[in-house]
Amino acid sequence: MPAPFTIIDHPLIQHKLTIMRDKQTSTASFRRLLREISLLLCYEVTRDLTLTTKRIETPMQKMDAPTLEGKKLVFASILRAGNGLLEGMLDLVPAARVAHIGLYRDHDTLEPVEYYFKAPEKLEDRLVIVVDPMLATSNSATAAIEKLKERGAKQIRFLCLLAAPEGVKKFRASQPDVPIYTAALDECLNEKGYIMPGLGDAGDRMYGTK
Ligand code: URA
Repeated sequence: MPAPFTIIDHPLIQHKLTIMRDKQTSTASFRRLLREISLLLCYEVTRDLTLTTKRIETPMQKMDAPTLEGKKLVFASILRAGNGLLEGMLDLVPAARVAHIGLYRDHDTLEPVEYYFKAPEKLEDRLVIVVDPMLATSNSATAAIEKLKERGAKQIRFLCLLAAPEGVKKFRASQPDVPIYTAALDECLNEKGYIMPGLGDAGDRMYGTK
């Protein structure tokens, strides 16, 4: 059985996502909303992290207080749009380590081409949360995850804002052990590999490059 596919349908996320989809929304607003949404998504994707306790002393007495177990999390951003999700997530988990994976989509083949990879040590001992706003063909997500697995990562989650059914199907066939978290599952991909109705090119909308 493949790992779970979760739609995070919190009303605040859905409301903000609608504003982001609107083509009238400015670059500045789009970026701010993505940062806000990423805090909420991060909250959900980390909801079941394991806790242990540590002995502390409050001003009143000693206690065994909950604290996250294990090594620091890794957030792996698929450049460049992944950075829009990454920033808000780091606001929430400032101690997380960060991996950057540079992939661009060849416009003709839609295949990912890698141009950068830098990740923290000891990936095998850490939960790695891969972030990219759009799960479209799933080619980039799959390439990034395969690279992380080659480098030792064993426990991986994938977080996006929008997913297309075609991408989800392909992703689950090639990465059945990786759970997917998304704010919405859209209708389909168009002939150019864009999510419909989608929100357009996430990187361009975030950085005002079109
Ligand atoms: N990447 C984007 O930025 N938008 C899409 O719709 C698909 C992939």
